[in-house]
Amino acid sequence: MNERTERQRERLDAHVFVCTNARESAHASCGTVGAEETVVAVKDWLRERDAFWTAVSVGTTSCLGLCSEDGVAITIQPRNTWYSDVTPEDVPELLAAEFGPAADCIGDPDDS
Ligand code: FES
Repeated sequence: MNERTERQRERLDAHVFVCTNARESAHASCGTVGAEETVVAVKDWLRERDAFWTAVSVGTTSCLGLCSEDGVAITIQPRNTWYSDVTPEDVPELLAAEFGPAADCIGDPDDS
């Protein structure tokens, strides 16, 4: 086991977790309302600003407890910000609010 906390703290400002959980039930789940397209939109937005896997990493996750028929759940950690009902079209506005339009507010959530 290797503790890598210091390395990750130096490298990463935030981790965007997108729920991709798909369940076979009558209840809505992100995996059936555009999760994969939303993940692509998040990665593309960050890549276009050279922030993907430098200051911001992106991961998929299971249910965040914000299931909706209207879109996907996202949390940004360690900022402890949470979104539901996110569509791929919402991603630019969401990420600009978090990180600034040019992703230049990374490292200081109060400036975003
Ligand atoms: S399935 Fe995504 S928040 Fe529950």
